[in-house]
Amino acid sequence: MEDKIRVMISEEEITKRVKEMGEQISRDYEGKTVHLICILKGSIFMTCELAKHISVPVTMDFMSVSSYGDGTESSGRVKIVKDLDEHVEGKDILVVEDIIDSGRTLDFLLDMLKARKPASIRLCTLLDKPDRRVTEVSVDYTGFVIPDEFVVGYGLDYVQKYRNLPYIGVVEQ
Ligand code: IMP
Ligand code: MG
Repeated sequence: MEDKIRVMISEEEITKRVKEMGEQISRDYEGKTVHLICILKGSIFMTCELAKHISVPVTMDFMSVSSYGDGTESSGRVKIVKDLDEHVEGKDILVVEDIIDSGRTLDFLLDMLKARKPASIRLCTLLDKPDRRVTEVSVDYTGFVIPDEFVVGYGLDYVQKYRNLPYIGVVEQ
């Protein structure tokens, strides 16, 4: 049977907000090249949509990580499944995430990327669930702050399904 999905953030709202974020990033990175780092797989839609609205030069790279945990909670011990193709040293990198939950994955990832000596490092996320935060993470660009509900769509999955939904929704039990 098909799951019932309640829309939390519509496709129109996402498109409008991501455009605004792209415009803000373009102003902030005036005169620079922004090196987008997409954290696979969840951030793929956000990264593509955001990149289309950035007017300064953009380069992109992709990384895939998995965090060890019991399935619902990330432990903070992160395994790199696919590393970046290019060096980040001297680059102005902008890490693009789909959602920040406990913050454990990003805390680890940001420390690891900083050690590779980029010129600057900032963080952009489509969604933020601050109620769930365990580790402090400083976010530079946030699309939407959402309540503590498990969401799917626009790259986010529930056991690998629903990434393709053009909106953010909640699976009704
Ligand atoms: P953190 O280390 O707890 O911040 O884990 C963040 C990761 O957990 C995200 O990149 C997502 O892959 C996943 N995640 C957290 N909350 C949700 C959700 O509501 N829906 C789908 N995936 C989520
Ligand atoms: Mg993710």
